[in-house]
Amino acid sequence: MKSASNFSKFGFILSALGSAIGLGHIWRFPYLAGQNGGGAFVLLFLVFCITLGVTLLVGEMLIGNKGRGSVAASYEKLDPTKSKKWKYASLFAITGPLILTFYSVVLGWVIYYFVYISFKLPTNIKESGATFNDLIGNHVGVQTLSLFIVIAITAYFVIKGVKGGIEKLNYILMPLLFIIFIGLFFYAMTFNSFSEGLAFMFKPDFSKILEPSVLVAALSQMFFSLSLGAATMISYASETEEKQNLFSSALWIVLPGLFISLLAGVIIFTFVAEFHGNPSGGAGLVFVTLPLIFNQMGTVGHVVSLLFMAGLLFAGLTSTVSILEPSSKLLADRAKMSYSKATLLISVAIFIIGFFVILSMNGATAKMFSFFGKSLFDIIDIVTGNYLLTIGGLTSCVFIGWMVKKDNLKKFTKEFFSPALFTAWIVLIRFVAPIIILIVFYYKIAG
Ligand code: TRP
Repeated sequence: MKSASNFSKFGFILSALGSAIGLGHIWRFPYLAGQNGGGAFVLLFLVFCITLGVTLLVGEMLIGNKGRGSVAASYEKLDPTKSKKWKYASLFAITGPLILTFYSVVLGWVIYYFVYISFKLPTNIKESGATFNDLIGNHVGVQTLSLFIVIAITAYFVIKGVKGGIEKLNYILMPLLFIIFIGLFFYAMTFNSFSEGLAFMFKPDFSKILEPSVLVAALSQMFFSLSLGAATMISYASETEEKQNLFSSALWIVLPGLFISLLAGVIIFTFVAEFHGNPSGGAGLVFVTLPLIFNQMGTVGHVVSLLFMAGLLFAGLTSTVSILEPSSKLLADRAKMSYSKATLLISVAIFIIGFFVILSMNGATAKMFSFFGKSLFDIIDIVTGNYLLTIGGLTSCVFIGWMVKKDNLKKFTKEFFSPALFTAWIVLIRFVAPIIILIVFYYKIAG
């Protein structure tokens, strides 16, 4: 099933970048950096993104770009085996909707903070923590409404299609996001603690670099933030021109993405240092520490809060559309139903499970929706982030590296890879990437 019209060359890059930059870059990256000792984690993450990230992005994008259909159809077209079993690798597209069940809930919190907390900032850390816990522990209604808004907007743009929906959304929101964050960065520069923010992000503690937990966190974050392992890049790339330079596209996703992550990190840790927040505040960093800091800024804090939450919301929406699109297209293609119907069906399922995710953190119902002592929210986050994305990424990596013939790969990439680059990419995708993924995966299970 094909949408009426495809991405333009630039629209593809912008939309793939929009997919990559999301809550992962702005909410997850800083708190992971805070929990994993700052600089060491940042350095590892940088190295992973530039080497493995670029390699895997080119790999996933090749599957879509040469396959030119839904994820299953793309695998099928490139699959050299007689049995054509690789199309089942498209099942990893299910990871997308699963991620959306908690991702949309978090994005719902962003909406709540935008319309409510920005005007009524907390005055001390206790109040700030209480506000956040109160939202999650007691307010099912508000969260469900916000969840509905997020899923409705996402479904609307996905149904509008690649050109008329997704690309347009990205053309508007991505420049706004960059303007907001660069503005906030300049504002952070005016603080005395700016140098401390910089130091926290960029001074690596080398004793931490080979710690398994830091390695695991950095690699998982690479998959999540580059939208790898859940068919997003395969599906988007099937909608761009065949002559797209996939290498430069990959660089245009990785480098600006790193830029935004680092910007967000420096901004947040400058504020944290200036106002004596706790850098390892975890998932609550953005929702508990930041509003307090915004309050301490005085009147201007309300504006900064609004801008920050707006930036986060824009970044999130350009990601949610990309998390939903592959599975919609896949279902439409394989179940032979209309694209809108497929999108609606999946969206309703996400909404229902998302509702249970909300209940799993609500005081009165938490027990009912928790298993093995973990809330449904945590379980889905861990299963997708720690396992499904990694295995999905490894699958596409092995497929492109080992199943597709080397001669074909050479043909596919000759427009953008010099012979030396091609050799480097082959070594990376055949050997380095799978081995590192397996080693880190081993630590994950062992740890
Ligand atoms: N990369 C996005 C972020 O950082 C989230 C995302 C979009 C994603 N598409 C994905 C994560 C596919 C995993 C797989 O917020």
